[in-house]
Amino acid sequence: MSSTVHIVPFACPKFDTFVVSQRQVGKHMTGLHGRDFLSITDMATSDMLELLTLAAQLKSGAVTIDCKGKILGLLFRKSSTRTRVSFSSAMWRLGGQVIDLNVSVMQVSRGEPVKDTARILSSYLDVLAIRTYEQAELQEFADYADIPIINALTDLEHPCQILADFQAVQESFDGQLSGLTMTYLGDGNNVAHSLILGCALAGMNIRVATPPDYQPDAAIVEQGRKIAGDRSTVTVLTDPKAAVEGAHVLYTDVWASMGQEDLAESRIPIFQPYQINNELLAIADKTAIVLHCLPAHRGEEITDAVIEGPQSRVWQEAENRMHAQQALLVQLLGGHS
Ligand code: CP
Ligand code: NVA
Repeated sequence: MSSTVHIVPFACPKFDTFVVSQRQVGKHMTGLHGRDFLSITDMATSDMLELLTLAAQLKSGAVTIDCKGKILGLLFRKSSTRTRVSFSSAMWRLGGQVIDLNVSVMQVSRGEPVKDTARILSSYLDVLAIRTYEQAELQEFADYADIPIINALTDLEHPCQILADFQAVQESFDGQLSGLTMTYLGDGNNVAHSLILGCALAGMNIRVATPPDYQPDAAIVEQGRKIAGDRSTVTVLTDPKAAVEGAHVLYTDVWASMGQEDLAESRIPIFQPYQINNELLAIADKTAIVLHCLPAHRGEEITDAVIEGPQSRVWQEAENRMHAQQALLVQLLGGHS
């Protein structure tokens, strides 16, 4: 890869304005252009690998893409530090602008239908990232909006997270994803769902170890197995040690997600055997890395020693949210050269 910084022209589908570039190169429209990103499965494997390559180039500074004139809206019904700020920073770094919508003062909070809100916002914005509870609400926005809608986390999936996670895996394993084994420990939640589907797309083996009553959605597991075919495996189990043995990536998330705060205390003893600690980490492959989408509850799903230890990649994983989402915005808005 050349170390020269290229400012690449960006084609804006609505306004068709090209930013003057240092180097004129042809426009390349991607498979994601104009599409919604509601699930990690809205990407083909090739789209995902292309996006990760672009994310790495953006991170290294090998490529700069200008999206001047583009506006990203953020509509968040749940708390967020990383997703909200990394999307904002990503769009600003692309030369675009961001409107962080305050949903509590929007008419949709007073009963204006989602389908009306979606059509109105479509005419003001170029892309809209939504964090909400029900996947059905996200889908309704997508059905009525004519701009790309991004899933910034629902109760079902968290696909933007997985892009950053995979970028971190590639950084530790020489660009590799396919053939590696990831073990997810804890609650079979939104992050687990997107990891199951994302690993299947990437040709990674995934093992998900949860307490018996907290397994991932069976339909997601089945979908993951269908996508994986004979390239990789999707294994759901309850034994954390068996799940971790020889794994290349250990991953965990909070035991009680947003909206489940009242269950947090009672879940601690149930989930304790699934904590990522040095004892469990010792069973993994000796090159294993540890990921966590954050925010973390030290002493619950992960120990302080592990998250601060030499095998932790959580800080670069979190940084990658910004790079991967820059690449995502570029792909959804019209591709790059
Ligand atoms: N990982 C993640 O999505 O973090 P936030 O909830 O802070 O956005
Ligand atoms: N499963 C967690 C992820 C937070 C990024 C939640 O939904 O709260």
